[in-house]
Amino acid sequence: MPHPFPDFCLTGQVTVVTGGGSGIGRALAHTFADAGARVVVLDTNGAAAEQVANEIGSMAQHAVADVSKEDAIERVMKNVARQHGRIDVLFNNAGVNRRNTSFDLTIADWNAVVAVNMTGMFLCARAAARHMRDGGGGRIVNTASILGISGGWYPNIVYQATKGAVVNMTRSWAVEWAPYNIRVNAVAPSIIRTPMTEALTS
Ligand SMILES: NC(=O)c1ccc[n+]([C@@H]2O[C@H](COP(=O)([O-])OP(=O)(O)OC[C@H]3O[C@@H](n4cnc5c(N)ncnc54)[C@H](O)[C@@H]3O)[C@@H](O)[C@H]2O)c1
Repeated sequence: MPHPFPDFCLTGQVTVVTGGGSGIGRALAHTFADAGARVVVLDTNGAAAEQVANEIGSMAQHAVADVSKEDAIERVMKNVARQHGRIDVLFNNAGVNRRNTSFDLTIADWNAVVAVNMTGMFLCARAAARHMRDGGGGRIVNTASILGISGGWYPNIVYQATKGAVVNMTRSWAVEWAPYNIRVNAVAPSIIRTPMTEALTS
């Protein structure tokens, strides 16, 4: 099948895709590799990350890490920068949901979603951006959600709150890191059929 964006060229670029073991991250890892990039597929699910890296072949490698763990993320980004000399692109995409009413959502579930969708997004962006700054620039794309802008799929309080935060973190970084030639954007998908939305789309 011809590539849908033949001019999309990432030849020689070093890219990291968080949540790359499944769904949107997996698709992006393939797309980046098809465009000529070297891809680090990062996921907590090591088997899934390895599987995606194997599907892609020699242009890919996998890294097992939890985006919400500062030490682990610092280590992975440092290893990538050391091995390849730089980090050009971070697709900051790992995300989870615990959908419930506000009356019934436990604090454990609230914290679990905040840890990945907000803190994890911050830790990955910061660690990658430090290397990008030292390397003269880079690109970060954060996966927000249409639910973080206009809401929907109620009740969905913690997901909506954290995805709204991703939108504003993106605005903040876009301004803060522009002087370092680090461009920061977000994508806000609507509903895409993946394991996360299986119950909704099947
Ligand atoms: N599918 C949709 O309709 C949709 C819509 C809007 C936004 N999104 C967002 O897109 C992103 C990807 O969603 P998806 O639908 O592909 O989901 P998915 O569940 O298919 O994939 C998410 C991946 O992230 C990994 N992950 C989860 N927690 C992690 C952690 N702490 N550290 C590292 N990896 C972790 C999972 O193991 C999994 O491989 C998420 O941020 C999600 O909120 C999805």
